[in-house]
Amino acid sequence: MFPSFFAVAPKDILPDLKYPEGFIFGVDSAAYQVEGAVMEEGKGPSIWDLASRQPGFITDNTTADVVDLHYYLYKEDVARIAALGVNGHSFSVSWARIFPFGAADSPVNQAGLDHYADVIATHLEANITPVVTLFHWDTPLALNLYYGGFASPNIIDDFIHYAKTVFTAYNGSVHTWYTFNEPQVFCAQVGGAPFNATFPPGIDSTNAQFHCSYYLLKAHAGAVKAFREMNITGEIAFKNSDYVGMPWRANNTEDIEAVERTVAFNIGVFSDPIYTTGDWPQILKDTLSPDILPRFTEEDSKDLLGSADFFAIDAYRTYWNAAPPEGISACVNNSSDPLWPGCFVEVMFDFNTGWASGPAADPLTPWLQATPQFLRPSFKQYHQRWPAPKIYYSEFGFTEPFAGVRTPQELFQITEDVERTTYFMTYLGELLLSIQEDGIPVVGAFAWAIMDNAEWNSGLSARFGIQYVNYSSPTLERTYKRSAFALSDFFQTHL
Ligand code: BGC
Repeated sequence: MFPSFFAVAPKDILPDLKYPEGFIFGVDSAAYQVEGAVMEEGKGPSIWDLASRQPGFITDNTTADVVDLHYYLYKEDVARIAALGVNGHSFSVSWARIFPFGAADSPVNQAGLDHYADVIATHLEANITPVVTLFHWDTPLALNLYYGGFASPNIIDDFIHYAKTVFTAYNGSVHTWYTFNEPQVFCAQVGGAPFNATFPPGIDSTNAQFHCSYYLLKAHAGAVKAFREMNITGEIAFKNSDYVGMPWRANNTEDIEAVERTVAFNIGVFSDPIYTTGDWPQILKDTLSPDILPRFTEEDSKDLLGSADFFAIDAYRTYWNAAPPEGISACVNNSSDPLWPGCFVEVMFDFNTGWASGPAADPLTPWLQATPQFLRPSFKQYHQRWPAPKIYYSEFGFTEPFAGVRTPQELFQITEDVERTTYFMTYLGELLLSIQEDGIPVVGAFAWAIMDNAEWNSGLSARFGIQYVNYSSPTLERTYKRSAFALSDFFQTHL
């Protein structure tokens, strides 16, 4: 047990309120970030295996070639989360393990299919609900080399074929599926190095992001259509990212518009077509010409609208939004403005008082401050804007400041992760109120992350884990941090 000082005891947080029956308290991971074993058992390379080899691309020059070796240690990892009382694990399947060459007309790798079959079975035996994401940013490298990956319409059929293969293999053992993790963040990367080395004709750094958004949406709709036609049991959607914010200067009309622009570019871009209109947000159509943002056909819209059974969001924080200093219309009319095409600013401190919205995370994740006080209004907004019968809170988490520079000898300081503990406890308390007081139908919450892992460009230096991983040790031991115990306590006392 951890000491009772420093942070509120989990059992004392809203002790009279409980989470609804059947609620999933889960943890998260993603294939590239935890598996390692990148050249094992037939796996092909992904675009991130290439990216991590570009000098300077990963801040600390680490790759995810070994990382947590979860590919081989999954049985131990499942046992460790089961011991905490966690009852869900949201993880992703690596496309390049199933199709090393990615394409529909290329061979399927049976070892990859067998691997995830056992991963899923291991979860079920431990009473942990496996929640499966088909794509967490790791496009098979071959598809980028053949035709430019998500910058090309060729991706659509290859993704649908991959999705069908995985649905068929695990039908009946997985209930909750996501097609894509945070497509907005993914497509924003596609326009930049090193992913831009293989653009197909007509694609450039300006239109790549929006062509990606278009093809990815069509791939999503196609996969969901197949899911339904194949009578796969269960439910399917995708994972949104980001927040619905507040105007920085409360009654300033430009800042109010900036909030709408932020929402349109970050959430509406994928969720309006799927949940409400079958079309892009008007703000996007007004800002981006059809050569940059392809328009949907009637058929596209029909396929997209309703292609999700629930709403899911990775909501780490909520901020204020402001108009660019030059004004929104000056920015919108000038495509060389550095803020174009979004033309909004995110502000992390209060206009009236100058205080931060909340405590800062590690400097390697400058986008992250803890903002539990805005969780309830944010969830009300998600539910109002993109109504769905249920919501999964699919990711939330925090980097303990400077944990990445500590040595294994400082383990006792690493495990005392009070900032992360407070983050989880305050967020879970507010989420409880959101469900019980505001009536928002949240049915599961998943903590990012199951353990320290390869945090994309920050490599091993930004630590999101509720378990520490000793990367200096050949056996990569995991150690629970305080936050893991606090989550465990919270779950036991609120279910
Ligand atoms: C992603 C994770 C990532 C986490 C923290 C989410 O955007 O889905 O892969 O590690 O946030 O940055």
